[in-house]
Amino acid sequence: MRILVVYYSMYGHTLTLARAVAEGAGQVANAEVMLRRVQEFEVVDKKIDENEAARQVREQQSEIPVCTVDDLRSADGVIFGSPTRYGNMTAQMKQLIDSTTSLWLNGEMEGKPAGVFTSTASTHGGQETTLLTMMVPLLHLGMLIVGVPYSLPSMIHTEARGGTPYGATTIAGGQGELQPKPEDLEIARALGRRVAEVTAKVRS
Ligand SMILES: Cc1cc2nc3c(=O)[nH]c(=O)nc-3n(C[C@H](O)[C@H](O)[C@H](O)COP(=O)(O)O)c2cc1C
Repeated sequence: MRILVVYYSMYGHTLTLARAVAEGAGQVANAEVMLRRVQEFEVVDKKIDENEAARQVREQQSEIPVCTVDDLRSADGVIFGSPTRYGNMTAQMKQLIDSTTSLWLNGEMEGKPAGVFTSTASTHGGQETTLLTMMVPLLHLGMLIVGVPYSLPSMIHTEARGGTPYGATTIAGGQGELQPKPEDLEIARALGRRVAEVTAKVRS
């Protein structure tokens, strides 16, 4: 059973969540986890050359393969992660999703479980809107959306941290100065585990 974790990250927060999601998925029996990053745009890549923090994060991800349509095709379950851009996913992630026409035409993603996760700069910067709008194309592709249940102890809280029933989240801070809290990572691992568990059930 193949579980694909595909993410985009410029300053590393979504990358940290992606690693936790992958770890959770890997805890499920017979799960082969593929961690993939989304292809960067050339124009953004040039801007990153001038930004020390983003350059370092680019370097940290250099060993992670870029996601292809074949990766999506071969996966039995997929978990998508994108930081927010004005309350929506990044254009880079949307570009990947928009390259799936052949998969859509042949119904190749239908019935595959999917989950989503995100990072925002601020507490109310669009966690839920990003996750919910990320789900829309996945539903068009016929995927089965899997969220995070409230039975997880860290889900009910009033602190400035992540954790939504729509998917895992974290708060990066206005300058990217915050890091995912232990609870954010726990919820990210739970999302990965849950998508993998549901995938195993769907396949049987
Ligand atoms: C064009 C642009 C739009 C953004 N819009 C929002 C936003 O609507 N709400 C918010 O909280 N953060 C917003 N951010 C901040 C990013 O979401 C933040 O840098 C990201 O969550 C960090 O994740 P990363 O470390 O994985 O790149 C925006 C950033 C950019 C560059």
